[in-house]
Amino acid sequence: MNILCIGAGYVGGPTMAVIADQCPDHRVTVVDINTSRIAAWNSDSLPIYEPGLAEVVARCRNRNLFYSTDIPRGIREADIIFVSVNTPTKMFGAGAGKAADLQYLEKTARSIIEYAESDKIVVEKSTLPVRTAQALSRVLHSNAKGLHFQIVSNPEFLAEGSAIRDLKNPDRVLIGGLETSQGRQAVDAVAGIYRRWVPEEKIITTGLWSSELTKLVANALLAQRVSSVNSISALCEKTGANINEVTRVAGLDSRIGAKFLKAGVGFGGSCFKKDILNLVYLCEFYGLPEVAAYWEQVVRINDYQAERFVRNMLAAMFNTLAGKKIALFGFAFKRDTGDTRESPAIAVTRQLHAEHAEIAICDPKALDNAKLDLADLAEGVTYTADPYTAARGAHAIAIITDWDEFRDLDYAQIYDAMNKPAFIFDGRGLVDAGRLHEIGFNVYPLGCPALTHF
Ligand code: UDX
Ligand code: ADP
Repeated sequence: MNILCIGAGYVGGPTMAVIADQCPDHRVTVVDINTSRIAAWNSDSLPIYEPGLAEVVARCRNRNLFYSTDIPRGIREADIIFVSVNTPTKMFGAGAGKAADLQYLEKTARSIIEYAESDKIVVEKSTLPVRTAQALSRVLHSNAKGLHFQIVSNPEFLAEGSAIRDLKNPDRVLIGGLETSQGRQAVDAVAGIYRRWVPEEKIITTGLWSSELTKLVANALLAQRVSSVNSISALCEKTGANINEVTRVAGLDSRIGAKFLKAGVGFGGSCFKKDILNLVYLCEFYGLPEVAAYWEQVVRINDYQAERFVRNMLAAMFNTLAGKKIALFGFAFKRDTGDTRESPAIAVTRQLHAEHAEIAICDPKALDNAKLDLADLAEGVTYTADPYTAARGAHAIAIITDWDEFRDLDYAQIYDAMNKPAFIFDGRGLVDAGRLHEIGFNVYPLGCPALTHF
């Protein structure tokens, strides 16, 4: 089978690499309008960092995995087309700031009808508002060639940093289609790809609308857990309770479960905020303002958490950060990725900058993206991959990303090279607060009592 994926981003790139790896007899092509991105996929320096990805690509590239900018040829030759173009939050017109911007999806549909010469299965891989398949189908069937397209929804649940593991061993694969015989055939064709390596009981088929909505809901529920825990971390700091103890014990209840209860400086990533805002917009659109307000609060608490983090720093450091050097440990939105989209590090840096702090940003993989995110902050921000350099002469360290590297540093050496009193604000519950306190730091672990020397 000829499989095409339109969109060579964080979703399309790794997903197609794993499909090619698991199905050596299928030919998988990934196309994109972004020529430099395709060139990077064809080079030794892939456009995204993801553990294990380089090995999979090296095994399959130019065997049965091809990255190309020849979109017309890709469409002509494909039996199945996965669409994984970006669907960012719309920033203009009706629904600005909440609704999904579907212009890239529609352009893709129009390319498909321009170049297709035979019937095709079109698979929605990007996260989309519920009922987008209907609009997609209408655009595709406006073709004058009499071609027929079956739309299937196959949302991707991979998390960045563990994408290859998630793709090889998913909790579930969801495939939604229309309840017609052609719809069922299309679902079965897509399921056949995954059956090569995913156990049958993990391949779940549903109706098209349920599949589209499930992706939004799964992300909303995960983000809601994080915001719930983060809201309680604020109460812990006021009362002397310890958020890690609270969530560990609460999570032992099998109905609650232990995962996704880690308090932090806030969730980031390309999905959570965008998908919740998309859900909020849909609820407002369908006349459900109470439901919309309920979910919107998840995003508000997330913004509040990053603001609160900086306010706590300011209060602890004698209400002034002007001229003080702050080492930011981590800029990626989570560990094991170079992605900084919606990273809380962006809001934290901007607030620190507004306080006239000198910020030294340190991250093993995300510095290039950080520089793009902060391009407008010419003064007062420096970048280094070395945490010892970042912390030299600093008044405080703020841990924003849970990279393992930051846990195992020689903090005694770091302390010696810092300005005193030295502060560490652990926004991820990463380091051993007691040990750092013994070294001499004033330690502020998020959601826990502070350990100070005052
Ligand atoms: C998420 C979903 O997990 C994935 O299923 C979906 O396909 C895309 O969106 P991703 O954004 O890549 O994946 O990462 P995820 O591991 O979910 O983390 C999102 C954010 O939440 C990160 O900033 C992370 O640091 C934060 N987080 C996560 C917490 O603060 N606490 C937790 O307990 C878990
Ligand atoms: P995601 O995280 O969902 O994968 P990305 O932004 O990383 O999103 O990737 C989406 C990719 O889709 C980008 O590389 C972009 O250039 C590509 N893209 C957008 N519109 C089109 C289009 N009409 N044809 C081909 N590729 C497109």
